[in-house]
Amino acid sequence: MENKIILVTGATDGIGKITATSLAEQGHTVIVHGRNKQKAETVLNEIISKTGNKKIDILIADMLSLADVKRAAEEFEQKYPKLDVLVNNAGAIFSKNRETTTEGFEKTITLNLMAPTLLMLSLEKALEKSSSARIINMYSAMHKRGGKPDFSDFQLEKSYKPDRAYGLSKLYLVWATRHFAKLLKEKGIKNITVNGTHPGAVATNFGQEPDKGFLINTIFKVALRFMPKPEVGAVSSIYLATSPEVEKITGEFFDPKNKIEKPDDKYYSTANEQIVWDYCMSILQPYLSQNSFL
Ligand SMILES: NC(=O)c1ccc[n+]([C@@H]2O[C@H](COP(=O)([O-])OP(=O)(O)OC[C@H]3O[C@@H](n4cnc5c(N)ncnc54)[C@H](OP(=O)(O)O)[C@@H]3O)[C@@H](O)[C@H]2O)c1
Repeated sequence: MENKIILVTGATDGIGKITATSLAEQGHTVIVHGRNKQKAETVLNEIISKTGNKKIDILIADMLSLADVKRAAEEFEQKYPKLDVLVNNAGAIFSKNRETTTEGFEKTITLNLMAPTLLMLSLEKALEKSSSARIINMYSAMHKRGGKPDFSDFQLEKSYKPDRAYGLSKLYLVWATRHFAKLLKEKGIKNITVNGTHPGAVATNFGQEPDKGFLINTIFKVALRFMPKPEVGAVSSIYLATSPEVEKITGEFFDPKNKIEKPDDKYYSTANEQIVWDYCMSILQPYLSQNSFL
C-alpha cells in the first residue's frame, strides 16, 4: 500500500489514539494532533515503540481556539508537501452550564463543528496535492438527540443543555460534511472525498468529567462499565482512512461496522444545510487564510 500522510486530531487518547496507532502499524506517516505537548510526545513515543514506525510527528493546537486551529493548519502546510488523510476525530461534550471560549463562542459547537470545518477548509489545498485524499469526520449517534434546531440560537444562549449542544453540534457536522462534498464536486475537485462515521458507544474519557448534572453524570459513569473498548470505536475511522473499497465514495455516513447508514434526517433539508453552512462561514471567515478553500 502507498505510504500516506495522515493527520488524526484528538489522537492523544481514546478512539483517536487507537486510530493513529493502527495507521502507523500500516506504515503510514502519522501526525498525532493533541492540545497538550507533553501528552502528545508521550503518545508519539508509545506509537513508535509499539509499531516500529518512526514516521510519526505531533501537531499541537487547542481546538477551542479557532485562531490556534488556523495556526496549526499553516504549520502543517509549511512542514508537509501534501495531506492524504484528515481524520477529524477530536470532540467532547461539555458541562451542564454553557461555557464560551476565549474567542467568545459556545464550546461544544466550537470543538465539534467549527474546528473540524475550519480544518477541512484550511487543509483543502494540501489535500488537493494528494493523488487521492480523504477526510473523515467523527459523528455520533447522538446527532439524533439534539432536539429541534433553532437557527436563531446557534450559540445556544437560549436553550443550552450539554446533550442538546452535543447532539446539534454533530447533526450540523453531518450537514456541513454533505455540503463540503457538494462544493468539492461543484468545483470539479475529484481527488478528495469527505465522509463521516460514528463509533458507537465505547469506553473512553468521553463524558467522564463529573460536570454535567447528576442524571447525565450517572448515565456516563454506569455506561462506561458496559461499553466496549475504544478499539471497537476506531474500526470505521481506520477503514475509511485507507480501505480501497471507499476510494470514490463521498458525502456518506458510515456506521461503526463500515456500512453506509442513513443519518437522522428529520430536520434535514438542503435549505437547512445551507443555513448551517452559511452560519459556519460567518464564524470562520476571520480564521481563513489566503490559502483556504473558497
Ligand atoms: N466514546 C464514545 O462513546 C463516542 C461516541 C460517539 C462519538 N464519539 C466521538 O468520538 C471522538 C473521539 O472521542 P473519544 O471517545 O475518543 O474521547 P476521548 O477519549 O475524550 O478523546 C478525545 C480526544 O480529543 C482531544 N480533545 C478534546 N478537547 C480538545 C481540544 N479542546 N483541543 C484539542 N483536542 C481536544 C482529547 O485530547 P486530550 O488527550 O488532551 O484530552 C483526546 O485526544 C469525538 O469526536 C467524540 O465526539 C465518541
